[in-house]
Amino acid sequence: MSRLVVVSNRVSLPEPGGASQGGLAVAINAALRQYSGLWFGWSGQSTPEFTGRISTRSAEGVTAATIDLEEQDVHEYYNGFANRTLWPLFHYRIDLTAFERAYGSGYARVNRRFAETLRPLIERDDMIWVQDYHLIPMARELRERGVENAIGFFLHIPWPAREILVTLPRHQQLVEALFHYDVVGFQTQEWLDAFIAYVRYEAGGEVLPDGGLRAFGRTLRAVALPIGLDAEEFATMAASAPAVESFERMQESKIGRKMLLGVDRLDYSKGLEERLMAFERFLADHPEHKREVFMLQISTHTRSDVEEYQDISARLDALSGRINGACAEMDWIPVRNVHRPHGRDELAGIYRAADVCLVTPLRDGMNLVAKEFVASQVEDDPGVLILSRFAGAASQMKEALIVNPFSQEDVADAINRALKMDISERRARWRTLHEGVAKHDVAAWRNAFVMLLEGAGLEQPPEKSNRK
Ligand code: G6P
Repeated sequence: MSRLVVVSNRVSLPEPGGASQGGLAVAINAALRQYSGLWFGWSGQSTPEFTGRISTRSAEGVTAATIDLEEQDVHEYYNGFANRTLWPLFHYRIDLTAFERAYGSGYARVNRRFAETLRPLIERDDMIWVQDYHLIPMARELRERGVENAIGFFLHIPWPAREILVTLPRHQQLVEALFHYDVVGFQTQEWLDAFIAYVRYEAGGEVLPDGGLRAFGRTLRAVALPIGLDAEEFATMAASAPAVESFERMQESKIGRKMLLGVDRLDYSKGLEERLMAFERFLADHPEHKREVFMLQISTHTRSDVEEYQDISARLDALSGRINGACAEMDWIPVRNVHRPHGRDELAGIYRAADVCLVTPLRDGMNLVAKEFVASQVEDDPGVLILSRFAGAASQMKEALIVNPFSQEDVADAINRALKMDISERRARWRTLHEGVAKHDVAAWRNAFVMLLEGAGLEQPPEKSNRK
């Protein structure tokens, strides 16, 4: 079996009792464990000058090889082009997108540095799998250094409509870079369709009879492949002592009230303000529910060096404070606003104690919180999932209450409906959702992608080859 080499910006091996790592890191760990593979990326540390020194560490059969980045790299590549340009743009926030040439140069430089450092570690039969928007040019950089292995790319965030993407100067260069991969994966058919539309109408490319895409003189295979949970591992964790403990602690603190739960990175794409305002609206429309329900919003700080993230954090605190000031009573507080990160096991207990989970991003590649909530619930008395139609997960989780997060009325109505839903409807919806989460798990995602990569390694007739 070929070795799998995964490349991603962030590399985080599991640590016992460690805080939740975020969906991508957890999924990659689960995917790599099967292959005793290599995981290459940024250490998260910065140094005054780039050294290219590789540190390695192993855990549970996965070897992580990481490098430090120069401070300027972190500023221009991570905080800059990745998180102030591509992230907002791909989440439809042109208003928050920074168009700065220095960011683009930093992005290109770091991709070059990653490729240069990774090159000597690559063996002849390795399959290389690059993750996410930080590293779109990686394949081109590797090909320029003579790498002929099969290389795949998976985008964990949405691919924007071409009308949005063309606001990026040098958008064509970015898409052209993707054509140095053999396989490119998206979370949903909608993002894939948007990519195909760009290729056809903006790049003058074509869809080949065998389903391949051809443009810029190269061919790739593009697929929609939704990522899943390691559902079995999650079930084991949900039954662990810390999970049971946090479940019991939550139950005790609920004192018979219903709990609405939100768990998110503190990101403007997650629709947190809109969610709190919808809850306020619900309380205003249904005063009879006051004192019977509260919302626990766990939103962990993220990308704190980026101004837009400092802004959303301050706004969310102000909003939850305002709602509590206006609505709270001496023995009831409507919003519990928590920033402390929680371990995944602790979170599983909290999910289980929730009566309703609100996953209402304004735009989201997939959103694994929706799947984790379903995986944590038990059949006796399952909670209800309220899910934004703009999350990738909505295309798979149709038995959730699907809402438009921009409409406070819509979300407030869904909260009311969820709280009133009888046990047989809750069970029926949960069963179908749970079957889907178990079936379309992370192993299915990884296997399907790796199979395509293996195929790409074997096929490639010389005239269509993406290799140099
Ligand atoms: C999203 C992205 C990931 C990223 C994660 C956490 O899920 O798709 O690539 O790792 O957010 O963000 P951070 O900037 O902390 O890595």
